[in-house]
Amino acid sequence: MADGEEPAVIALWQRAGLTRPWNDPMTDLAFSRGKATSDVLVAAVDGAIVASAMVGHDGHRGVMYYVAVDPDRQGQGLGRQIVEAAEAWLLARGVWKINLMVRQGNEQVRGFYDGLGYAEGTSVPLEKWIDPTKRGTSS
Ligand SMILES: CC(C)(COP(=O)(O)OP(=O)(O)OC[C@H]1O[C@@H](n2cnc3c(N)ncnc32)[C@H](O)[C@@H]1OP(=O)(O)O)[C@@H](O)C(=O)NCCC(=O)NCCS
Repeated sequence: MADGEEPAVIALWQRAGLTRPWNDPMTDLAFSRGKATSDVLVAAVDGAIVASAMVGHDGHRGVMYYVAVDPDRQGQGLGRQIVEAAEAWLLARGVWKINLMVRQGNEQVRGFYDGLGYAEGTSVPLEKWIDPTKRGTSS
């Protein structure tokens, strides 16, 4: 994504139902965009941003967040394309495995990921708020 596209990307995330009160999307964008180990990819149709994927790696495994397609454009292959672009971004950086999280309550998206070859792993995700002042303010 380019400078100035933040409002359009955030609007897309809102329309796709991915924003949460405890995650400031501007902060999330600033944290990940255009960094050596992370970026935010977008797809545009007729000049409008219609799909996004936040992608990155931690030096070991790849991750994806904010995989979103505008509701008016879903079912047209854009989700597949943006995920494949994120996979290519990681492969180009020598990363060969992606871990991603699907929120409880969003299980219907499992069919989409199944079709792209994503399966439930054998590891159990654990979490800890290492800044105790933030505890309970995010997920
Ligand atoms: C999930 C999402 C990104 C999919 O985008 P999309 O553009 O509709 O998906 P595509 O059209 O590329 O679909 C790719 C394939 O997945 C299938 N698919 C899409 N959604 C599916 C679903 N909910 N269940 C089963 N299969 C699904 C499509 O039929 C298609 O199959 P095909 O390649 O055999 O034709 C989109 O629905 C979305 O933005 N959802 C809301 C946000 C969200 O939940 N993001 C994921 C957070 S973990």
